[in-house]
Amino acid sequence: AQIKTSSFASSHARVAQAPTDGRPEFAFIGRSNVGKSSLINMLASRKELAHTSGKPGKTQLINYFLINHSWYLTDLPGYGYAVQSKKTRGKWESRTEKYFLNRQTLVTAFVLIDSNVPPQLIDLEFVNWLGEHGVPFVLAFTKTDRKKSRDGGSVEAFKTELLKTWEELPPCFLTSATNEDGRDEIVDFMEASLLD
Ligand code: GTP
Ligand code: MG
Repeated sequence: AQIKTSSFASSHARVAQAPTDGRPEFAFIGRSNVGKSSLINMLASRKELAHTSGKPGKTQLINYFLINHSWYLTDLPGYGYAVQSKKTRGKWESRTEKYFLNRQTLVTAFVLIDSNVPPQLIDLEFVNWLGEHGVPFVLAFTKTDRKKSRDGGSVEAFKTELLKTWEELPPCFLTSATNEDGRDEIVDFMEASLLD
């Protein structure tokens, strides 16, 4: 499994402006600062393909990265960080819903969950929302290099919460952008999904 080439393709404020070339895509979504852009860089083996920041709310547009000249990684703005009104505080944007309900070229969404913090209501709500709407998704637990994660973290706790609502768990990946954990597994998964 290999990502040989990667390049920035385009940025869009609105889903309606996203590429219309029909190429398949994998989307990265999760709470602000969870490590979406960092994971994209890790998968592509590029330091600054997607812009990252220690401050939440860095990615504000829908960013498309073209992989191997044939498919996209899509970096979405995070949820759960108040940039707009109090009313939308803690919830994801309607733009995010539009993306997942309408994007026909979406193969699978990667929902990123920080493996260092206890299960967060907004993550559980978002995963449940995807499940209720039949959006194909997997989970990627992030920052497994950090101490809290290494000390046991919250991966099992999050899975336990999900199993209160769902009979089965989606595929789950343990990832670290720092030490490249999970890279081969995810790229293999993507390539297999593209062949289906
Ligand atoms: P928004 O665009 O604001 O929604 O954030 P994002 O989810 O794209 O997060 P981003 O990739 O910008 O990373 C946020 C912070 O977490 C940065 O300081 C990263 O360096 C750090 N980070 C990301 N992945 C890892 C990881 O695997 N390990 C560690 N230790 N830090 C990470
Ligand atoms: Mg980002």
